[in-house]
Parts: sequence; structure tokens; C-alpha cells
Amino acid sequence: MFGSPGFWDERYYVNCEPFEWYHDYAALKPLLEQFMTKEMHILLVGCGSSEMARDMYEDGYTSLFNVDISRVVVDEMAMRYDMKEIPKMYFEDDLGGIQWKQADATDLTAMFNDKIFDVVVDKALLDALYCSEVPGKQTHKYLQEMDRILTPEGLFFCVSFGLPENRLDKIEDTDEESDGFLAWEVEVHAIPKLMPNQYKVSQLKKPEDVYYVYTCRKEEKMDNEKMLKKKAEKARAAGKKIPTRNKR
Ligand SMILES: C[S@@+](CC[C@H](N)C(=O)[O-])C[C@H]1O[C@@H](n2cnc3c(N)ncnc32)[C@H](O)[C@@H]1O
Repeated sequence: MFGSPGFWDERYYVNCEPFEWYHDYAALKPLLEQFMTKEMHILLVGCGSSEMARDMYEDGYTSLFNVDISRVVVDEMAMRYDMKEIPKMYFEDDLGGIQWKQADATDLTAMFNDKIFDVVVDKALLDALYCSEVPGKQTHKYLQEMDRILTPEGLFFCVSFGLPENRLDKIEDTDEESDGFLAWEVEVHAIPKLMPNQYKVSQLKKPEDVYYVYTCRKEEKMDNEKMLKKKAEKARAAGKKIPTRNKR
């Protein structure tokens, strides 16, 4: 259900007030700053009604592209921030400034070329796709898209409730021969969950006491391997004879 546009449209139709899953920008900022600079081209996928983009923009980030599958929330967010008179600044290419567009993150081919974003921020979208009707297929397509649109040294920054043992099998696949090969290396970070009582210190003894942040850094060499593999597959599909490369 969390993967269906109908579910999200209905949810936002009933209530489109700002809502933040897991953590807000202030909580994530110290970690985000370790990985990105203000002028990078950043995509916020499955942005929902979160105020991340607005807060980042006000903090000096200059290129924030937001996409969500729900047209209801995208229209509302675009209108809300036009009304608040956040200046729209467009640069030579189409990515600059702050903008919202409706799109399915599992297939962005109509919207984005390969290798254009420095960073993709996912807060709870991968988790939503894990709860869709066909989680295996959806998460596979989605992660391949993220890999495709990131620059050869880009970063996928994924905030999730999912424990590493339930996420790394999909997020981390460095086997060049595998279908799910992703040209990035993964590190896992943890951020304590907000406690109902803000003065109570979390014991952090249970894995459920934290949210996980998977930082997936693209690797130029792996990216080249993947490109070559894709080209070879295309050529084979077109009937050309391409020898299989030996694994080093
Ligand atoms: C759990 S909410 C997270 C919202 C926001 N990122 C936050 O942190 O508050 C998941 C969001 O992903 C969107 N979504 C679900 N499937 C999607 C897809 N295939 N492509 C793009 N967005 C999708 C939903 O509409 C929803 O806004």
C-alpha cells in the first residue's frame, strides 16, 4: 500500500500539512554536512510534505529538486513555497533553485539524464517501497535508478528505520555480475530516535532505538564497469558478438 500513488494521493488530499518522517533537517544537518556542500545538485526523492527542502534552501543550499509520486502533495508544495516567496533562482541548466515535480522514482528516465545529481536524499521512501505490493521489484528498480542518475562520485543518502540486516542485501551489491549491481560503497550510521520525553536519554541498547542512515558513495571505477556492462548487454541484444570479460 505504501508504494501506491492512490494511497499517498488520498493521504495528502485529507491532510497536506507539513509532516516530517523520522527526523527533520536540524537533526540530520550535522551528518548531511559531512557529505555535501551548498552548491551541489541535490534531489530529494519521495519528498512528501516534509520541510527539508525549504530548511536546506534557507540554510544556503542552491539546487534542490524535489520529486514525489503524489501529484496532490507536489502541487501543494510548489504552491506553498511560491506563496512564501522563496525566490526561484534558475541557473544555466534546469536543476538550480528549488522546485517540485511529480514523478515515479522507480522510473525517472523521462525526466532525468544519467549522472546528473551529486546527491540524492531519501527519507523514508525506500522504506515505503519495501512495504509495496511487489517490494523486490520496486526496490530493485528504484535503487538502479538512483545509481543511474548520480554522478560517478555521487552520494545516495538514505534515512531508514530498516536494520542493516534487512536493508544491506538490496542496498549493497558490489557483484558486477549480479542484476542488482550498484556502483557504490555503503557505510551505515545511526541517529537516535526522538524520545517521547525529550529529557530521557535513550539507552541505545536496542537496534530499534535508532534510525539508520545508509550513505552510498558512488565509485568511478565501479561506475565505468557498470557502463561497460550495460553497453555490452545492449550490443548483445542487438545481435553483436561480444566476448564475456574475465573477472579480475
Ligand atoms: C514515508 S513518506 C516520506 C515523506 C518525506 N520524505 C518525509 O521524510 O517526511 C514517503 C513518500 O514517498 C512518496 N512515494 C511513494 N512511492 C513513490 C515513488 N515510487 N516515487 C516517488 N515518490 C514516492 C509518497 O508519496 C510519500 O510522500
